[in-house]
Amino acid sequence: MNVLNRIPPSFGRNLNKMNRRFFLFNLFFLIELFFYSIYKFLTYPVFKSFKIVKISLDNLKEGVNEFPENSIIVLKKGKDFKVLSSICTHLGCTVKFISKNNYFQCPCHRSIFSINGDVIKGPAKKPLKELKFTIRRGFLIIKA
Ligand code: FES
Repeated sequence: MNVLNRIPPSFGRNLNKMNRRFFLFNLFFLIELFFYSIYKFLTYPVFKSFKIVKISLDNLKEGVNEFPENSIIVLKKGKDFKVLSSICTHLGCTVKFISKNNYFQCPCHRSIFSINGDVIKGPAKKPLKELKFTIRRGFLIIKA
């Protein structure tokens, strides 16, 4: 018996439906992928990273100064300054200074960072990001 005789006559039509469905599914997937790529491109952090924060030197006390509204930590030791981002390098929560232990702790997954921003305990693997700044006319100008 010929093998072709066993194939039902509706086989070709079903195959066409499947191909059309498969084609439309892939077309919609590609359209979604296209718009998602544009969205990700436009919201890439490069375009958000030009925020400038100005803090008066008179407002800074010796030691740790936290500015959670700008996600900034300013460390002052005499006339030396160091500016850190308070955004945890694990998943982006805001770390808080625990003065009795002299370290920063993330409330989300309990990562601990030293006063210089180095990782003491994970899950975070990278230190807190150090931010560039300049001092001009009594203000700390930070590129956050
Ligand atoms: S977000 Fe900070 S430890 Fe996970």
